[in-house]
Amino acid sequence: MRTKTAMNLRVGFIGAGKVGTSLGKHFTEHGIPVMGYYSRTEQSARESANFTKTKVYKNLEEIITASDVLFLTVSDGEIQNVWQQVKKYLTDVPKLICHCSGALTSQIFSGIEETSSYGFSVHPLLAVSSRYESYREISKALFTIESNVPGTGEELKELLECTGITVQQLDSSQKLRYHSAAVMASNLMVGLFHSAEQVLKSVGFSDGNAHDALSPLLRLNADRIADAGCREALTGPVERNDVETVRTELEELMKLDHDVGEIYRLLSKQALEVAEEKHVTKNFTKLNIALEKELDSI
Ligand SMILES: NC(=O)c1ccc[n+]([C@@H]2O[C@H](COP(=O)([O-])OP(=O)(O)OC[C@H]3O[C@@H](n4cnc5c(N)ncnc54)[C@H](OP(=O)(O)O)[C@@H]3O)[C@@H](O)[C@H]2O)c1
Repeated sequence: MRTKTAMNLRVGFIGAGKVGTSLGKHFTEHGIPVMGYYSRTEQSARESANFTKTKVYKNLEEIITASDVLFLTVSDGEIQNVWQQVKKYLTDVPKLICHCSGALTSQIFSGIEETSSYGFSVHPLLAVSSRYESYREISKALFTIESNVPGTGEELKELLECTGITVQQLDSSQKLRYHSAAVMASNLMVGLFHSAEQVLKSVGFSDGNAHDALSPLLRLNADRIADAGCREALTGPVERNDVETVRTELEELMKLDHDVGEIYRLLSKQALEVAEEKHVTKNFTKLNIALEKELDSI
């Protein structure tokens, strides 16, 4: 499908929510021809079209005909349903059909191989929280492009790259692991912070005090990890090879809550991998053994 340069590919959005609007605005700001928006409600499509100075489409066929690249930026649960409708209007003219889900792959476009079009998942590693503000952050995010037809993602890659976005290509079998990494770095940090708050509350901190006490630690540490990497950011008893502190804290947490003890043990093992890389001459054998113990035997 190399009839146009990537910058001339006409882009249409089905789903005028946060991601569709932000990506459309980012594209228009970088000179990409965005055709406009079709959405479940005409009002959303109109708002996004106004914001991006593009067109409102009132039926699917028109936006499909007008676009070379179609982003199905609808909620994950609607992608299959919208795809079934889009499929009916595909002709011999090839289109690049994309959704933006982190967890789903391009395989959701069932039967696309019987058409002239190609399917992709295109995922921004970014929390897109605002329809009208998040576009400013888009070029800071890495995007992944996943397809199960090797070699078909080049035009999309060029399209994103010519707007300043960094792109990593994945194949379908890699998508679950990729998304689980994103979950760990974002959502599961919430779970970890919640556990730390519960532990402080168990020694008399109020809800607000626990939150306020731990927040500076979290902020500084997150910045340090982001700026300097895990090795430089690591401090604390694991890095100091302080076996006694780790062992007794683990025992104490096990008495409080088995799951929280397990979190402490398993994440200490991960931190130990970092400590071992950082201090190659230190002997961490005793700490390793303390963290390997079955919890019930501690
Ligand atoms: N938000 C994030 O942080 C983020 C980050 C990465 C990836 N994603 C992915 O991006 C996609 C969109 O997420 P979002 O956060 O932008 O969701 P959103 O803000 O809820 O927007 C979804 C839009 O889809 C439209 N829609 C729903 N069903 C439809 C249908 N059957 N036909 C046409 N339009 C329909 C809705 O339209 P109406 O307004 O007209 O009702 C809504 O505006 C999802 O796949 C999500 O996983 C999101």
